[in-house]
Amino acid sequence: MSLEAIRYRRGSLSILNQLLLPGQIRYEAVDGVERAWEAIRAMEVRGAPAIALVGCLSLAVELHGGAGPERDAPALEAFVGERLRHLVAARPTAVNMAREAERLRAALRRRAQSPGVTAQDLRDSVIEHAEALLQKDLEDNRSIGAHGARHILQRLPHASVTVLTHCNTGTLATAGYGTALGVVRSLHAQGRLARAYCTETRPYNQGARLTAFELVHDGIPATLIADSAAAAAMRDRGVHAVVVGADRVAANGDTANKIGTYQLAVAARHHGVPFYVAAPSASCDPALPTGAHIPIEERPGGELTDFQGVRVAAPGIDVWNPAFDVTPHELITGGIITETGVYAPGELRQALAAARGD
Ligand code: MRU
Repeated sequence: MSLEAIRYRRGSLSILNQLLLPGQIRYEAVDGVERAWEAIRAMEVRGAPAIALVGCLSLAVELHGGAGPERDAPALEAFVGERLRHLVAARPTAVNMAREAERLRAALRRRAQSPGVTAQDLRDSVIEHAEALLQKDLEDNRSIGAHGARHILQRLPHASVTVLTHCNTGTLATAGYGTALGVVRSLHAQGRLARAYCTETRPYNQGARLTAFELVHDGIPATLIADSAAAAAMRDRGVHAVVVGADRVAANGDTANKIGTYQLAVAARHHGVPFYVAAPSASCDPALPTGAHIPIEERPGGELTDFQGVRVAAPGIDVWNPAFDVTPHELITGGIITETGVYAPGELRQALAAARGD
């Protein structure tokens, strides 16, 4: 069975409902933006690249089905702008959806200036743009996997390496190969992975439910640990590198990622273990000077107090449940792995500008 988070063909989109994994594999139809917003918000689909893909493809499906003003091109442009604003608001920390919304708006603005452009032309532009994203994400992930594996193997003189990863950054979070998990996949494909340690990733358990599922599915040697075992694993189990994903990388390299990433970076620094962030340039936000400006989503307290609908925390306790934290750039000692190469945080701004052709 091949694992896919997103199934798309023109006019039809469905997502693997990740709330039901690993117990049940169920694809759900997403007939438009409203359903996508709910699925993203409820974390039926999650992970920065997958959020943007499902958001944009849901708009494509809706427009293919005839939503929006039929003939009036400026009205259709305004309609698309409004739908994009709605999608961006679903989860604020991951920047991919916001960046794609910006690119789509700019593309439509340019297209709308061509003489005689029709509402249908604009619809087609959105659909083509969204479809191109799927392919681009797949290619970016493959490049990230290759660059990351090469960098780690050059830096570490071992025949095979042990990597610790956090949250889920694999097939379920992207169009297919994954970012940090793509690096793990690439090492494994080259016969150079000794073992992957995946953290449970409390409170939502993306590691235990999703990453473990992917690793077992692919036959990759892997061990699940509680989040609180990570420092001990670095000291006692021969972890050679930590590789995590990103929801947003600021211009100076500060990185927002799943809660718990920051403490992994602190522990990695203490143990002299190189710490890598693997993310496509679509997850970088060069307009934000530092991580202090990244909005951090706070999730319902029930994710902490309850387990599968059963209350486990003492009644009456106050809860703080940030979904992400920011790792300062100075702790990203291995580098930031993007589709164009691996950069020290201080080199990122220039590398992104060069990749854009500025
Ligand atoms: O809350 P989630 O599950 O959407 O958080 C996911 C992460 O933090 C991932 O590391 C990040 O989005 C990168 S996924 C390739």
